[in-house]
Amino acid sequence: MMDDTKIREWNEQFRNRDSKEIIAYFLNHFKDKIAFSTSLGPEDQVITHMISQIDPKANIFTLDTGRVFPETYDLMDRTNKKLKVNIRVYFPDAAEVEEMVEKKGINLFYDSIENRKECCNIRKIKPLMRATKGLDAWITGLRREQSITRKDLQWVEQDDNNNLLKINPLAHWTEQDVWDYIAEHKVPVNALHKKGFASIGCQPCTRAIAAGEDVRAGRWWWENPETKECGLHKR
Ligand code: ADX
Ligand code: SF4
Repeated sequence: MMDDTKIREWNEQFRNRDSKEIIAYFLNHFKDKIAFSTSLGPEDQVITHMISQIDPKANIFTLDTGRVFPETYDLMDRTNKKLKVNIRVYFPDAAEVEEMVEKKGINLFYDSIENRKECCNIRKIKPLMRATKGLDAWITGLRREQSITRKDLQWVEQDDNNNLLKINPLAHWTEQDVWDYIAEHKVPVNALHKKGFASIGCQPCTRAIAAGEDVRAGRWWWENPETKECGLHKR
């Protein structure tokens, strides 16, 4: 566990730095003990682009729940080819998924919050634990603006859930900053964004949003905003 004073110092130090410098600093600081966790969302694509310019061999991984959109697989492939990175894919444990589905059905997540959390736990949280085993830190694409649960997000945080240091290089970015960067650097993005999808997760738990709706309104839309975290980022 990193001490609070060091974390505070880092957050002071990075206040006026750009995100690429933050990423470069931590990749160098933690060497093979740090990884970037990507869901292939627009923020994550910005970070992957920055990493590809710093060190394309850095550890980038994604959690493939088995329920993501075909467009997301297509983006994974295009990103690897265009940015010359190799996104490592972690799958859930086959036996655990089979048992859950046998007991509770293939679309169990619509029946209760408890079921939804169980599915996220088996399909995302446990694979995340495997992906981060032995690491000291992970990088995420979280931003403050994304939801009320993320409004106090810092660039560097102690992540007690996963017992890791968590680096959020885009913590202070607005949605517009993200799209400006993508346009300027021609970063590949999910084809679904053009069809009204903003924040994209698993297919059964993501819907398109209407103009003026919150960007995360399409995620687990049947739940209320305070409970809408899959557990990767419990706060
Ligand atoms: S979630 O908790 O609602 O699913 P969100 O989609 O906003 O999270 O993503 C926030 C950050 O969590 C992403 O920038 C990424 O770092 C990480 N993340 C989310 N989903 C995945 C995934 N399937 N694989 C890897 N990282 C992920
Ligand atoms: Fe399961 Fe939905 Fe969570 Fe994906 S987002 S792991 S389908 S409950």
